[in-house]
Amino acid sequence: MCRVLLKDLFTHPIAQKYLNRSGVDHAIKVAEYAVQLAVKHGVNPDLAAKAGLLHDIGHYEWYTNGEWDYEKYKKNDIHAIKGAERAHKLLIRLGEDRQYAKEIALAILLHTDSYLPENSMKKTTLQQIVRLADEMDEEPYGKHHYRKISKEEAMIKIDRLDHKIYQLLTKYRESV
Ligand SMILES: [Fe+2]
Repeated sequence: MCRVLLKDLFTHPIAQKYLNRSGVDHAIKVAEYAVQLAVKHGVNPDLAAKAGLLHDIGHYEWYTNGEWDYEKYKKNDIHAIKGAERAHKLLIRLGEDRQYAKEIALAILLHTDSYLPENSMKKTTLQQIVRLADEMDEEPYGKHHYRKISKEEAMIKIDRLDHKIYQLLTKYRESV
């Protein structure tokens, strides 16, 4: 079976719509960090990259009178739930392996526990990696969502990651 490339995900209109909302630069950085962490912890780098890239696609825009309303966001946000569902739908549409699609969606669902009643769930390494990668790129006041990156630079980084994952997957498959 052919691997669904990050490029296929990244260039899909649904991903473009939501990645532009929550920040393309942040999404790519988190994918890059997630791959580094995956290598370190013996996790499939392809799943880590995809979950990292798509982890914030569930964001909604919380505005009051044209201004970003942080309080409203904190109170009502369920972006991890929305993102997990959107990512799963997109992955399946592009032909992703169903078990992989589930693992990626779960890592997105659990990349933050801000919406969960309590912080007591036991998480897999992949789920922990995506959360950590997100935290590594976070800036105060959510500034990481507003950093700019050109389309050309974004595509170069995505292609570079695809190439790296292709090489890493051979090693990963030999190790499991
Ligand atoms: Fe994030």
